[in-house]
Amino acid sequence: MTNFLWGAASSAYQIEGNNTASDWWWIEHQAQSSMERSGDAVDSYHRYPEDMRLLAEAGLNTYRFSLEWARIEPAPGEFSRAALAHYRRMIDTALGFGLTPFVTLQHFTHPLWFSQDGGWHGPKSVERFARYAEQAATILHDVPWVCTINEPNVETLSARLVDRFVSGEATSMTVTTPDIVLPTPDRATGSILAEAHAAAKDVLRENTDAKTGWTVACQALTPTPGSEDKFAEVKYAWEDFYLEQSRGDDYVGVQSYTSQTVDENGIVPHPESPDNTLAGWAYRPDALGIAIRNAAEVTPGTPIVVTENGIATHDDERRIRYTDEALRSLFDAVDDGIDVRGYLHWSALDNFEWGHWEPTFGLIAVDRTTFERTPKPSLRWLGEVARKGRLQEGDAA
Ligand code: BGC
Repeated sequence: MTNFLWGAASSAYQIEGNNTASDWWWIEHQAQSSMERSGDAVDSYHRYPEDMRLLAEAGLNTYRFSLEWARIEPAPGEFSRAALAHYRRMIDTALGFGLTPFVTLQHFTHPLWFSQDGGWHGPKSVERFARYAEQAATILHDVPWVCTINEPNVETLSARLVDRFVSGEATSMTVTTPDIVLPTPDRATGSILAEAHAAAKDVLRENTDAKTGWTVACQALTPTPGSEDKFAEVKYAWEDFYLEQSRGDDYVGVQSYTSQTVDENGIVPHPESPDNTLAGWAYRPDALGIAIRNAAEVTPGTPIVVTENGIATHDDERRIRYTDEALRSLFDAVDDGIDVRGYLHWSALDNFEWGHWEPTFGLIAVDRTTFERTPKPSLRWLGEVARKGRLQEGDAA
């Protein structure tokens, strides 16, 4: 499997720190907010060379990171050359370490001005996103992989939460709580995101050589007996609509963490269990295989990249076991003829998990006072697997 992407993923807001022009920063600082703050995050805005070096030294060949739209366009139509130059330095640094840069244009956060002006439902949101993509494209000419929008299905929820927060109805944006069943993604917003994706894809195809796609939060849903109709309805609303938009793209990003059942009432909350992860989700490494197979069925002919997969745990041995099992389900799908081009683990670093710090997904631990990085055994393990290019018997032992 030459050219298989073996990497780790991150997002700007979760690791950079001080993204003060972004809507999330504003939300965190409202009086009614009950969330933990991102603050300096893990200071990757300054320490990205070290982050990349650790990944490359371990044996990984790809790093997925995102651009912060709010830094690049802090006011409508006002673009920061310094911010673009910063992200260009990140691309050059990755290339210098032999890491393939995999760049996301938008990962859950927006410039505050964009959200306060109606967000995706605001005036000319699609044109605004395409205009931002045009500016981003000026630094992406030699980047091989670009994602326009991260998890558009979850992005519809996050857009709705921003509205509820602005109106004072909500006090937290945190979605990784044990008993939560997220509301169904709203199709009206999803359709706008699909348009924004298509517009940005046109811009990128015209101005870069990048393979372009978007990444979908795949739920690995399964029906309880007798609930097949409800299951089909929920699965379409939750993910297949978004996967369908990837037909004709250069790839589709599959992001998978856990699996849930659907009964006649809809998605069933994760049953309480000591095995649940720190995010409150059921421990289901096999979810990745289910997610890949569903994506392949819905988007026939579109190559798949696993753009996120991982586990929130303090027990790094458990992270290795989870990843080993998830990778086995990935390679079973490959053996069955499914075209999977890469595996990017979430996350490179322990980071700001959208409103709290407790769920640690990282291959690298970070001391949030000194910002000292400590690679975990799981990073060494994944790097070894990457060097071999495939799992072997007893890898997780
Ligand atoms: C998101 C990440 C998030 C991860 C774990 C994905 O939905 O893209 O930003 O940290 O899941 O919750």
